[in-house]
Amino acid sequence: MHGKNQQNQHKRIVKKFLYIETYGCQMNFSDSEIVVSIMKDQGYEMTGKPEDADAVFLNTCSIRDNAEKRVLRRLENLQSLRKKKPNLIIGVLGCMAERVKESLLEEAEIGMRIDMVVGPDAYRDLPYLIRDAESGHKAINVILSTEETYADLTPVRYDSNGVSAFISIMRGCENFCSYCVVPGTRGKERSRSPKTIVSEAGQLYERGYREITLLGQNVNSFMWDCSTDRDVINFPALIDNIAKKHPLMRIRFATSHPKDLSDDLISVIASNPNICRSIHLPVQSGSNPVLKRMNRKYTAESYMERVQSIRDRIPGCTVSTDIISGFCGETEEDHRRTMSLMKKAGFDFAYMFKYSERPGTLAESSFEDDVPDDVKTRRLEEIINLQQELSHESNLSDVGKVFEVLVEGVSKRSNENVMGRNSQNKVVIFKDKGFKAGTYVSVEIKQCTSATLLGEAVAVSEQCGGE
Ligand code: 5AD
Ligand code: SF4
Repeated sequence: MHGKNQQNQHKRIVKKFLYIETYGCQMNFSDSEIVVSIMKDQGYEMTGKPEDADAVFLNTCSIRDNAEKRVLRRLENLQSLRKKKPNLIIGVLGCMAERVKESLLEEAEIGMRIDMVVGPDAYRDLPYLIRDAESGHKAINVILSTEETYADLTPVRYDSNGVSAFISIMRGCENFCSYCVVPGTRGKERSRSPKTIVSEAGQLYERGYREITLLGQNVNSFMWDCSTDRDVINFPALIDNIAKKHPLMRIRFATSHPKDLSDDLISVIASNPNICRSIHLPVQSGSNPVLKRMNRKYTAESYMERVQSIRDRIPGCTVSTDIISGFCGETEEDHRRTMSLMKKAGFDFAYMFKYSERPGTLAESSFEDDVPDDVKTRRLEEIINLQQELSHESNLSDVGKVFEVLVEGVSKRSNENVMGRNSQNKVVIFKDKGFKAGTYVSVEIKQCTSATLLGEAVAVSEQCGGE
């Protein structure tokens, strides 16, 4: 007993290192910053190399089957580190921890040892779980909460360019799109206190950050009841407040559900030049019967009405989307409708996926996953090819225009160039003339590819919100 105590005390003095890999969405990256903040308080420093780590965490995603397969392959691959470090702790965090639960700890079932399984609402429990794991016990907490927002914790921006950061404003999802695991893995919708959000934005500004992305599974459902004055703060009010407080800070948000993108929000964007001219509005399909089976609660027509409203009231705003090909019962006609909507909407950018049936979803229990894999693949290819044309057209229409670009750092391809983004969220590359990360530079676009704009700097500005 005495010996064990001494050992524990010894462990607390020795420096420990954490290596973390994040899969999936921006929300998960934001969660990893919370995890690192909690682990730092437990004496763990970050390392960029798994072989130097005492604990390796994978913050995982369950959205598609291949996302989980990738994690399992990585876990298998990490087992070899145990030979060199028998006390290594391997933890699975996030959505896959929440979905697969205890089974991840069954060595016989998954063919490898995992020491910790921690769901997205259980990170405050990490100090206890890691102590259990350090003393050789397997540790698990996958309890979902109706209140947890980690509002009071200060995220550690461990993988940051020092210019742009995420702020999580709400958690959970109650839309129940029939294909989606998220309501099951992230639980009930809850908003974070606006006071803590505004204060986090202010701290980031003070530290030199110039772009924040407000995150939630459906930011339009953000709602905070100020019980003292019976006032309610919704998303347009929140974003308006932050935009006006920090006119030199760019503000983005993700993700919006088309059924909830209000005229009020469009007006707030239109009237604040520092709210970015880029809206991500996942359509998923252009066919009404498919949208109905997906439980999306809008039609292709009402979606197009929202896009038109954005184009009319926020000139120069880009619209990006998510599309799923080969959902249950999708016919060639449904697929053609999706392609036709893509053309009508003229999407500037899209994330495109093959439907992947997920256990426990409404689609799994209600519909047959009946589109053959080769048909899903062919339709997806057609969608990707079309989007490439649309993105190229969108970029070609920018040639000759001047944009205000927020510099993020040197370009990956050549350190003679810098890269940044315009308000429309397009990557712009231009020759470095000593531009510092975090400055706004006016850039005239000279050429483009379907993915990037190439330009020349014409002036450095202190503004935020030019064309
Ligand atoms: N299969 C394929 N794509 C999916 N998405 C969500 N669930 C699935 C699934 N089961 C896509 C949607 C969503 C994006 C984050 O991932 O397009 O908007
Ligand atoms: Fe993946 Fe969705 Fe979880 Fe994000 S919320 S990590 S996309 S399953």
